[in-house]
Amino acid sequence: MNRRDFIGGSALFAAAGLVRAAAASTAEEAAKAAVAADAVAFRRQQTSGLIESMPMLQAPAETSMGIVWSVTAMANGWVDVSESPDMSNARRFTCGGYGLTGFHERVLQVRLTGLKPSTRYWYRIRAERIDYRRNKRMRYETEESSVHSFMTLGPRTPSHFCVINDTHMNRPALGMVMAKLAELKPSAILWNGDALNACETVETAVEALLLQPAPGYASKTPVLFNNGNHENRGVWARYLDQILMKRLPTERSPRDWELGRNFAVRIGDIALIGLDTGDDRADDHPMSAGLSNFQPYREAQTPWLKDVLARPEIASAPYILASCHIPLLPRASEKDNPMWWTEYGLRNWGPLLTAAGAQAVIVGHMHEYRFNPPDGTRSWAQIEGGGFELGERRFGAKTIVNPGYFPTVTDVRAEGGKLVVEVWDVWHGRVAGRHEFSPRR
Ligand SMILES: [Fe+2]
Ligand SMILES: [Fe+2]
Repeated sequence: MNRRDFIGGSALFAAAGLVRAAAASTAEEAAKAAVAADAVAFRRQQTSGLIESMPMLQAPAETSMGIVWSVTAMANGWVDVSESPDMSNARRFTCGGYGLTGFHERVLQVRLTGLKPSTRYWYRIRAERIDYRRNKRMRYETEESSVHSFMTLGPRTPSHFCVINDTHMNRPALGMVMAKLAELKPSAILWNGDALNACETVETAVEALLLQPAPGYASKTPVLFNNGNHENRGVWARYLDQILMKRLPTERSPRDWELGRNFAVRIGDIALIGLDTGDDRADDHPMSAGLSNFQPYREAQTPWLKDVLARPEIASAPYILASCHIPLLPRASEKDNPMWWTEYGLRNWGPLLTAAGAQAVIVGHMHEYRFNPPDGTRSWAQIEGGGFELGERRFGAKTIVNPGYFPTVTDVRAEGGKLVVEVWDVWHGRVAGRHEFSPRR
């Protein structure tokens, strides 16, 4: 059994065991079967072992798509893309873009550009092993994947996305979450932060994002990613761009080029906006050790948010949803702890979203599903997704038992003139909350 089989197999076993331990239900059985089927498909896809992971679609937009995968040796890579499943008239995109290609010993990244909005494409990744020693550059075997497919974002893409958050590399929880994603088949996945714990090497990031219990989870469905506070932990967190592609600079004005993670995209009738709340510790917190500069980053996102809300494709959307990792609204008992909500976001982003008539802000961080309805001061509800814990959470030596701790998949879709949000408790295989919103006036 090679390393990939071991990682996939052991996680699958753990996830299956946990699911069995919880109250078995048809939904859970179906979820387990989906994870198993995906793992089999993944193993079948492997050939000589240069390509390690299934491709992960990232940073989706109307006319571009990022594709990232891991390799086991120094390799060059490219992606062939076609508008037909037989791969006829395929266009080739090379890793790293212009000039020298971005060959790498662990992760390859390719950005597809010049695509059409709301259009289905078929693609295949390829890697070629390279031995590079000073002026000697030797080419060895080439490996290619099977053909996968995706749809670009845009106003004609099905109005349906799912949210996951606070998975913290917990493989049993990831198994349940990804099985639900496979069942719901959204147009995009919003990973709303804390995918990681602390990233000390590239290997942590490869395992967290590319070698999943359901390895093909993002080969058909692109991932929009918002940083959580844990994406800022660990020495290697500074190099996360090597695995998590930033948005294309051309999506922003030159003033906002540094805001590489922010996005405002149309998924059918839904305009979805991504904001980065940064670290939960203040920049001057002793544990930040002078290594944080997040407040200017939050402030720079305010004029960006104001401008994207005025963009025609966003301003014309029937539904506007914003997302960020740390809540904008505190709970009454937690108002005094600045690590548990972002007062800057509430005071500065909140009024802009109300002026635009946004229906909801989707957050995570507190590891518990909660819902705050709109009130007289704001147009938007706050929907918090759950974390990886199953019924109890540890804070150092303290354990808090709470049946409200369960992993969630939040299913968001516009149908029948309404926006319907269903928050799935994927541990017990039931809908924990259902919320409906009317279109903007
Ligand atoms: Fe978290
Ligand atoms: Fe968090």
